[in-house]
This record gives sequence, C-alpha cells and structure tokens, in this order.
Amino acid sequence: STTQVFERGYSGPVYSDGIHLVDGEGERITEDRLSEGEHITVFPEPRPGIEDAPTLLVRYAESDYGSDISEGFTVSGYAAFSKVCTHAGCMVSDREEDLVVCPCHFGKFNVLEGAAVSGGPPGRPLPQLPITVTSDGFLVATGDFEGPVGPGGG
Ligand code: FES
Repeated sequence: STTQVFERGYSGPVYSDGIHLVDGEGERITEDRLSEGEHITVFPEPRPGIEDAPTLLVRYAESDYGSDISEGFTVSGYAAFSKVCTHAGCMVSDREEDLVVCPCHFGKFNVLEGAAVSGGPPGRPLPQLPITVTSDGFLVATGDFEGPVGPGGG
C-alpha cells in the first residue's frame, strides 16, 4: 500500500515514475554520485517527514552482490536499504567493511547479502528499497520498502 512505504515518515503517493532520492542537502542523487564501495545516506523526495525515512544507498560492482539481494532491487551497482534498525529502531550509522552497524546494540547487517543480519540482536534484515535510474540519470525509488521499516512486523 502507499501508506506503508515510509511508515515512519513520508506517506504520500508513490509515483509511477519513481521518487527521487536526495542527499542531506536536498540534492538529487545522480547515477555517477558514488564510486564502488561507497555508502551515503539519502532520503526519498518529496518531503515532508523526510527526516524519518533515512535510507542507506550503497554502490558495489554488480558481481559483489550475493544471491540474497532482492531481484530487481539493484541498478547500476546501487542498492538501498532502510537505515532504521529492525531491532529497536536506532539508526544504523557505523560501518565495518561491507557491514553496516547499529550503535545501540551492535546489530550488524551485510549490504552485499540483502542486509542480512550478521551479528547482534536484530531478527530480520533491513528492508530494501527498489530503485532504478531514470532516462536522465537520476536514482529513484520505484515502490515500497520490501518489508516494514524499523522494529516490529515480525
Ligand atoms: Fe539496533 Fe538494537 S536498535 S541493535
């Protein structure tokens, strides 16, 4: 449903042509923004509630991704995940190589394996956001996170 998309924030419509991803300054993310191995925090546009839908955008070589990555959720080496920890809702904000780490109880998620839990108390992966690149070279979300954002939801 459209209201579940960014349930802790944006709850407006999902546009068929995608929701632009923007950085902390509101600048739209272009396909050439990251190099392989880089991570950045982005937000879905349009606002409001944008501060409540922080999303981790990563870029790797396509061949670096394991089979757990959701089909159709990566483009041009990019993958995007909710930053809201599925354990108790802190922001995952630290990084150890290809793992992102939640500072609250040290939950760890592997972004090359669909953000599968690789340590700590979280019970499920960070939900992934389906993305694509527009014909004019911008990264956009094409729909809902694949699962509930944050704690709960099984
Ligand atoms: Fe992230 Fe507990 S809130 S590990």
